[in-house]
Amino acid sequence: MSKIVVTGKIPNAGLEVLRNAGLDPQAWSQDVAMTREELLKQVQGAEILVTLLTEKVDSELLDAAGSQLKAVCNVAVGYNNIDVAACKARGVTVTNTPGVLTDATADIALALILMVTRRLAEGERVIRSKTPWQWGMHYMLGTGVTNRVLGVVGMGAIGIATARRAKACGMSVVYHSRSEIDSKIASELGAKKVSLDELLSGSDVVSIHCPSNESTHHLIGAPQFKKMKPTAFLVNTARGPIVDEQALVDALKAKEIAGAGLDVFEFEPKINEGLLDREDVVLIPHLGSATTETRDAMAMLAASNAVAIASGKSPLTPVG
Ligand code: GLV
Repeated sequence: MSKIVVTGKIPNAGLEVLRNAGLDPQAWSQDVAMTREELLKQVQGAEILVTLLTEKVDSELLDAAGSQLKAVCNVAVGYNNIDVAACKARGVTVTNTPGVLTDATADIALALILMVTRRLAEGERVIRSKTPWQWGMHYMLGTGVTNRVLGVVGMGAIGIATARRAKACGMSVVYHSRSEIDSKIASELGAKKVSLDELLSGSDVVSIHCPSNESTHHLIGAPQFKKMKPTAFLVNTARGPIVDEQALVDALKAKEIAGAGLDVFEFEPKINEGLLDREDVVLIPHLGSATTETRDAMAMLAASNAVAIASGKSPLTPVG
């Protein structure tokens, strides 16, 4: 029987998929993540690893696992925690969990768009801090999204789902993407493909949905903030390193942009101190896929990939 190591605590629904296939996973059951030292010990002899996005799967970990390792099944759609080239060089298959978290993440992107443009977190802080307030014609005015432009950076499934939600709020959509999208979807959304520079200069909200890799590292940095409208907002539900976080703080301070809504951070879980005391940012702790049903579905898909590989079949959702 294949030795399967589940390196973080995952929902039972995922473990059930493994057990129902007759597998006996060695699963970490504590809420606190394993230390790196423990992780390197636990993976020894594994044929399949089921990993979380908080675990760095690099050459050191692959060597610690051993040459019998066949696959790394990540419980996330993003896989910037995995050195895919190192896996490939060792013949190790990598899988992720696309599709099952599309709506949950797009919901969070829309929530951040509304929170930051309408100053919702700031308003909540007023109430919770018991600061005296009174309704007034000029009190805490935000920016409406109707008839504004959403610029989607990375028009994959989550970008498209976010664009659909924004369209329902009366926004028009431009996007920048490596690949073409289905022409039916483009016309349904009335979405126009533009260069990144055009997107930055023409959008009222820029929402990031591309993968995090070497080519997208700091894709949005100081030069890009200078191209955005001073009234525009940045929203990131993809991965922190796509945005140069210090450049973002500097751009906010210089009023080069109007605000930001962030679910992900460059050095997660550490947050740049410069963001913490600003009223023009909304900060939430990587909640994109955080619904019970979505996390169950992610764990089940990662486990189904593991089952397929353990039984010599092709994985359902390989990376690359
Ligand atoms: C969550 O961030 C994911 O990539 O699945």
